Formats: sequence, C-alpha cells, structure tokens
Amino acid sequence: MGKKKERPYKVFKIEKGTVIDHIPAPKGLLVLEVLGKKNDGIVSIGLNFDSQKVGKKDLIKFENKIIDKEETDKIALIAPEATINIIENGEVVEKRSIDVPQEITGFLNCLNPNCVVNRENLQPHFEVVEEGPVKLRCKYCERVWEVKYDMVENKRK
Ligand code: CTP
Ligand code: ZN
Repeated sequence: MGKKKERPYKVFKIEKGTVIDHIPAPKGLLVLEVLGKKNDGIVSIGLNFDSQKVGKKDLIKFENKIIDKEETDKIALIAPEATINIIENGEVVEKRSIDVPQEITGFLNCLNPNCVVNRENLQPHFEVVEEGPVKLRCKYCERVWEVKYDMVENKRK
C-alpha cells in the first residue's frame, strides 16, 4: 500500500448552517440519530471518507441550522473528536470546541430493563464516568454504559 493518497471527494459546500466534520466512522449515523433528522434545509451526509486525523471519517452538513449547546453536548458524548464548523455567507465563522459534559439528562435511555427509570418512565439521568470512549453511569441503577445505538432508539422526542 505504501503512502496512501487521499482520494478527492465532495459534499457540496453550504451557504449557512453547521458542518460536523471528523466524526470517526461509523458513528455518523448515530450522531444524526441523536440530533434528529428534522431540518428546514438540506441535510447531507458523507460516510467513510479518508481522514488524516481520524482514519476514516463521517461528516454531516445541516443547511440553515446552527446547532446549540445541548446539541453540541450530545455530539460530544458520541464523537468528542468531531469538529463543529459554523458557516455564514459561505465561510467558516466559528470552529466550536467540543467538551464532554459531566452529566446528561433526558435523551439517552438506560438499557437496564429493571431500572426504575424505565419501570416508572422517569427522566433518564447519567453521569459521565470516563471520556475515551465515553462511559455513562445511570443515576438510578448505577450501571455503566458505553453510548450505543440502542440507547437512542425509541427515545422520547
Ligand atoms: N464547509 C462547507 N461549506 C462552506 C465552508 C466549509 O461545507 N461554505 C466545510 C468544509 O468542506 C469542511 C468544513 O466545513 O468539511 C471545515 O471547513 P474548513 O475549515 O475550510 O476546512 P479545513 O481547514 O479542512 O478544516 P479542519 O482544519 O477542521 O480540517
Ligand atoms: Zn438505570
């Protein structure tokens, strides 16, 4: 193989919105799932591009949507390596750093079927106990989970 040349690729540039870049593959779809697919503008997704930074990367572009702090925190739990670029008038106006939050409520489900959070339909609440990869401890049953697809499926929206 030797030194691999990066293959040219293209996902259309956007005029305004958010580009989430350098998501380590294959976490792109999970990031999309937690952010939700509803958007006023076009959402474009690129999967499995070559990247010097993360090997293979996924990227997501949300036209017209400027993501907020809560959404940034969600991304941080899944892909702390990602870069968030805010685009205005066709230019990157902000590169937002991602910090893994210390705790998170209400969007991931505890996977323990016997956990009181599930039995009584309470608001999920996790504490971050490790950051690489992120591990979460349920505040109710204290079980520790790595963030995965099952935790976002069927989530209350
Ligand atoms: N981008 C876009 N639309 C624009 C401007 C930028 O979709 N109008 C995308 C680029 O394609 C890239 C990301 O936003 O995926 C960041 O753009 P830029 O900072 O110009 O690229 P790099 O310097 O390669 O970024 P980094 O240093 O984060 O690798
Ligand atoms: Zn639990």
